[in-house]
Amino acid sequence: MHQSILVYRRYLYLKCSVAVALVALVAYAAYRPAGPANGNTWLGYTLGVISAALILWLMWFGVRKRIYGPGHVRLEDWLSAHVYLGLALIVTASLHTGFEFGWNVHTLAYVLMLLVIVSGVYGVLAYIRYPRQMTENRRQATLTALMAEIAEVDRECRQVSMGIGDAINSEVHKSSQNTRIGGSMWRQLAGDDPQCATRAAYERVRTLARAVPEDQSEAARQLVSLLGKKLEFVRRARRDVQYKALMEVWLYFHVPLAVALLAALVSHVVAVFYYW
Ligand code: HEM
Ligand code: HEM
Repeated sequence: MHQSILVYRRYLYLKCSVAVALVALVAYAAYRPAGPANGNTWLGYTLGVISAALILWLMWFGVRKRIYGPGHVRLEDWLSAHVYLGLALIVTASLHTGFEFGWNVHTLAYVLMLLVIVSGVYGVLAYIRYPRQMTENRRQATLTALMAEIAEVDRECRQVSMGIGDAINSEVHKSSQNTRIGGSMWRQLAGDDPQCATRAAYERVRTLARAVPEDQSEAARQLVSLLGKKLEFVRRARRDVQYKALMEVWLYFHVPLAVALLAALVSHVVAVFYYW
């Protein structure tokens, strides 16, 4: 997904959403209920039902996404409509509530809805932003190619370090054995490893290289340069993993929060009818 989802069909779904929001706003402004303008009026019910129907339809996207084969409607249509109609909910649901909030399950449903929407907006921005940064970071190569380059430089490091002292050799060995790319979600999102064995090796070997005997100095200089190159590749691979994680992490909020929203919404509707 990229920017085209937002401009899809010349903003058709943006126009639909603006129309839905405008109709809701005009109806809310024109409506003069006997009591307070809240969910308990006929307009309140209408906006509530529209909002709930929108939420059910937005959730259906999770199912639609997984149905393979050509459907009647293209996935791009679904996504573009999902994004814009999801945003229209802010207007329809807010007007439905009549801006009466409290510490109750009704407001919980509303807050969860807002959180789902915020995570969705983040997702769209991430899908627009990170793919380009990923390509720039990898310089057109794939992550697999980058990993292969790291392995190759690592092999060269081990070869060059063979003729140099044990202390340097041990650093190269540690860099080779203990360098981690990826790991836990936090590690991936951080895009760095504070205990990076390659960075430690690079810094230590740079210091040790100054004290090697004359006949090893050329190899030591070459090793420092190779470790610097490896460090740069490792950094790039970690950044790649970081971008990927940043593009995925929001779905860990969007989907569970959407499910929680559905549960709160059912409770809300049951509660209002129960107490009515
Ligand atoms: C089938 C759909 C819906 C129905 C029948 C419905 C019904 C109602 C009713 C009757 C009220 C007025 C309660 C009162 O004044 O005591 C109300 C208020 C409210 N509704 Fe809904 N609603 C629906 C959907 C939604 C949705 C989708 C949301 C947001 C996610 C929502 C959030 C709220 C909130 C925050 C209030 C204000 C509660 C308060 O007064 O403290 N409702 N709803
Ligand atoms: C209350 C409103 C919303 C609900 C209930 C909802 C629910 C969902 C669900 C269930 C999925 C399927 C995820 C999956 O199964 O992988 C989804 C996907 C998605 N949602 Fe929402 N959504 C809402 C609002 C929004 C908004 C406002 C935006 C953006 C502004 C948005 C952006 C997205 C995107 C980009 C995807 C596609 C993710 C992917 O395929 O990688 N959503 N949403």
